[in-house]
Amino acid sequence: MKVLVIGSGGREHAIVTSLKKSPKVTTIYCAPGNAGIGQDATLVPIKPMEFDKLADFAEKEGIDFTVVGMDDPLVGGIVDVFEARNLRVFGPRKNAAILEGSKAFSKDLMKKYGIPTAAYEKFTDATEAEAYLKQAKLPIVLKADGLALGKGVLICNTLDEALAGVKEIMLDKKFGEAGSTLVVEEFMTGREVSVLTFCDGKTIKPMTSAQDHKRAGDGDTGLNTGGMGTFSPSPFYTEEIAAYCQKHIFEPTVAAMAQEGRPFQGIIFFGLMLTAQGPKVLEYNARFGDPEAQVVLPRMKNDLLTVMEACVDGTLDTIELQFADNAAVCVILASKGYPVSYEKGFVISGCDYFDGKEDYFCFHAGTAKKDGSFVTNGGRVLGITATGENLIEARKKAYEATKWIDFEGKYMRNDIGNAFLE
Ligand code: AMP
Ligand code: GLY
Repeated sequence: MKVLVIGSGGREHAIVTSLKKSPKVTTIYCAPGNAGIGQDATLVPIKPMEFDKLADFAEKEGIDFTVVGMDDPLVGGIVDVFEARNLRVFGPRKNAAILEGSKAFSKDLMKKYGIPTAAYEKFTDATEAEAYLKQAKLPIVLKADGLALGKGVLICNTLDEALAGVKEIMLDKKFGEAGSTLVVEEFMTGREVSVLTFCDGKTIKPMTSAQDHKRAGDGDTGLNTGGMGTFSPSPFYTEEIAAYCQKHIFEPTVAAMAQEGRPFQGIIFFGLMLTAQGPKVLEYNARFGDPEAQVVLPRMKNDLLTVMEACVDGTLDTIELQFADNAAVCVILASKGYPVSYEKGFVISGCDYFDGKEDYFCFHAGTAKKDGSFVTNGGRVLGITATGENLIEARKKAYEATKWIDFEGKYMRNDIGNAFLE
């Protein structure tokens, strides 16, 4: 089969790497991909939001199956465009991707169906939001309704911060139209865990768990980023908690979406917080996590393409997901200054050290090729993953492998996985 993957980050490199192992796959294309993905797939220079061009390409090239990795095209309705042209595509339709595309939608859904999440209010009027905040309990969480590159969430410890947040999101429109509606949420405490699941509209099957490290600096300091590193599985996500989530969160979410006439096919990524009152949903995403995919997919034993086809065909109930009884750790190598401002174009050395090593992965997130060498081309540059018998071994190997790579301004967190060492 000829497969097309849409996206250009470390997540898409992990997806391509897994699909490449499938005996059914003959050729992989990636649009637009990046230089590292170009080692494993044929790059197609079409942007993810150019739906018609992508569908034209898929038709012309005889693509049998397309996998959409990113949130923007999913929320924008790329799956509907492909389906209207009888092209097989993995991912939720627009009316289901709204689960990620609108926090107001997802909060209302959880409330209606009794799915555990933080209490909330939503506002379209800044004056009303301010009045509410003046009598609300602190700390409090402000969220722009729409997609904001993972940056539209503000945790406010004081009233002044909260009022400044309303101005930023609703009046100054720092996150654009995403901030037209504001969700104000109760602040929760607990451990965070990410659970990615496959869905076919009716059946939902969870993958192994993972934990991300969203803040830029060691000890969870500094700004929020797309994610600086992950480990899998999360030792805090016990079988008991998993069973609770399946019954009270995962299955009710898929059933609710079907009930609403929005059957969800694709990946639902549950951002969970394990609170003293039990697991609660922090957020839904309609795609693999980045860098969660970089630790979950290398541990998956199933043929990824077969599972994705089952989601599209509505036969996921016939599949048993299997994960290796090991662990994986991913450390992101970023450009100094990420997530604010950083330089690009520095030569990267050492990627070839990973060749032929089964338990080490060098996933490319932001790289380009210049004069035959890889150069930095983004904030998150590489995701260095290692698998091991357990988390401690995987972590040791991943940090060792970060030393194989060098580029000017190389920045990473040094405490990925400290949580499980405690
Ligand atoms: P989100 O994009 O909704 O996952 O939010 C980004 C991060 O903000 C999460 O990973 C949490 O660390 C934090 N966060 C979001 N909502 C809450 C909440 N209600 N209480 C505490 N922290 C939160
Ligand atoms: N790592 C978090 C995300 O992909 O949204």
